[in-house]
Amino acid sequence: MKQHQRIAVVDFGGQYAHLIATKVRRQRVLAEIRQPEDPIEAFEGFDGVILSGSPALASHGEDGDWNKGILDLPVPVLGFCFGHQEIAKHYGGEVVHGGREWGAAQMELTRGDHPLFAGLGPTEQVWMSHFDSVTAVGPDFEELGHTASGEGGTAHRFAAIGSDKLRRYGFQYHAEVDGTTNGETMIRNFVVGICGCEPTWDMDAYIDREVERIRAHVGERSVFLLASGGVDSTVAAKLLRMALPPERLRLLHVDNGLMRKDESAGVLEMFNDLGLGDVLEFVDASDDFIGALDGLTEPEAKRRAIGDTFIAVFEREARRLGIEGHLLGQGTIYPDTIETGGTKRAHTIKTHHNRVPIIEQMISEGRVVEPLAELYKVEVRELGKRLGIPHDALWRHPFPGPGLGVRLLCSGGTDEAPAVQAEMDAITDGTALTAQALPVKSVGVKADLRCYEHPVLLTGDAPWDDAIDVTRRLLQHVPQVNRCIWNLSTTAPTALGSRAATMTRDRLDLLREADHLVMEGLVRHGIYGDIWQCPTAMIPLAMEGGDEFVVLRPVHSARAMIAFPAELPKALLDELAVQIGALDGVGCVAIDLTSKPPGTIEWE
Ligand code: XMP
Repeated sequence: MKQHQRIAVVDFGGQYAHLIATKVRRQRVLAEIRQPEDPIEAFEGFDGVILSGSPALASHGEDGDWNKGILDLPVPVLGFCFGHQEIAKHYGGEVVHGGREWGAAQMELTRGDHPLFAGLGPTEQVWMSHFDSVTAVGPDFEELGHTASGEGGTAHRFAAIGSDKLRRYGFQYHAEVDGTTNGETMIRNFVVGICGCEPTWDMDAYIDREVERIRAHVGERSVFLLASGGVDSTVAAKLLRMALPPERLRLLHVDNGLMRKDESAGVLEMFNDLGLGDVLEFVDASDDFIGALDGLTEPEAKRRAIGDTFIAVFEREARRLGIEGHLLGQGTIYPDTIETGGTKRAHTIKTHHNRVPIIEQMISEGRVVEPLAELYKVEVRELGKRLGIPHDALWRHPFPGPGLGVRLLCSGGTDEAPAVQAEMDAITDGTALTAQALPVKSVGVKADLRCYEHPVLLTGDAPWDDAIDVTRRLLQHVPQVNRCIWNLSTTAPTALGSRAATMTRDRLDLLREADHLVMEGLVRHGIYGDIWQCPTAMIPLAMEGGDEFVVLRPVHSARAMIAFPAELPKALLDELAVQIGALDGVGCVAIDLTSKPPGTIEWE
């Protein structure tokens, strides 16, 4: 097989670390993740190294015991954020706690002629997210760019530093996120310009490598793949089919009772159309899942119950079909791992169904095959296209393994709304909107950490941009809230209170109907493909006129690591307010205006 030049990305555990690898691969250069304590042999054969950001503080020496031998490697090294600060420190510079900057900043290039900045203008928008900063550089280093933003306003800050003699460089900003407008050019300048990598890698190279890896891993055994029919498992199925002879691959589609309306019938048809019908098995296990969820209200407990039940059903079906000893196949993609805290330093935001402890155990025993585990959804779709999967199957909205299970909120009925009315009123004052905090919680992510806090309901007739602006300010300034939703009716719900509710078939059926109306509406208005994903969540809240509160969550995203609320046409929102509002038991319908962070895409 052809050898490609490679970059090692050292994962210090920031939520965006893996994005760096993706952005390098987009330059057609292979990138692989390494851990900071890996032995130096693990870095053999690489042509350059990038050190990621981290939730740790370099100023306090946190996470400072990584393998510094990496900095003795005879190849160029570039650090982002924490990595930048560690490089500055190592070579005699100074890092202090302070000088924080958040969000977009303007970087003036001190050395606009430097090869790292080839093709860029004198000022570049960069994305900052740091508490610590570099205040002095060592003797061999120079400033390559600076900002004047951030706390205190006045100080001049090192935004980019470097030593051409040592071939060591640092960016205080995150070149890997889209908020750094020309971040990809900077990454290309490093990997191609400074490290000298030839851009030879592409998805075909990935397919070749994965096929080899699958064959080596599976050996004489066979694979039994959990196939939900979503983009990931469908692409994984095609790839496994390519790597293995037909008698060594079986697919299992499980109806877990948490699927969309008529979903399983559609999935079976799709696998037949893809020529995989001969290896497909189907089981209706909705009783198992609904039974396992009975009485649970806490999101992580629900997620674990769903993940465990998948394995119990998988093993039972394997026995029934007489195919024990097979490897478990899954279409796991990278965000499933990172959000579960699956890299050593990352915090658990939520446990994805394919990362529950029993599966982690099977992985450590080498009993799981996951050919997409390094990829993001955009890359999976590109791979699927190369494997001949039709556009419509590839561009279905992502649907999580736990399905409606994480969209149907349950409650012990004891939640109280936080006492933040005065703070909220100070922000809505002078706008057409009123705000009320709700007595329920949902999962979010703040500064790389999980949060479980309250949504705020906005009511009032206002332009979309005003509602987005109020949302941004509320989420920035009001404590104990991580989400903002906007009432589709101009009348605020009355007699609002928390209500005990669990996962029942009736509630699931009601959510399924609401979700179906939303999906139909997106298609009817010709905007299904413009939106990355549109979950519909249902919350048990007692109010006048109904016991369920329905929330639409349309988002734009590329990799699900960050997301922005998607504006839906007013006509569609009006139709959905009427249609969903008419379902028996629905008391209020709203649209979620929260970006990720601080809200996650799913409510649980
Ligand atoms: P969050 O809610 O973390 O979701 O912003 C990010 C993306 O991941 C999907 N998701 C899951 N997918 N198993 C999956 O296969 C899961 O357990 C799971 N949880 C969330 C979610 O739908 C979104 O696309």
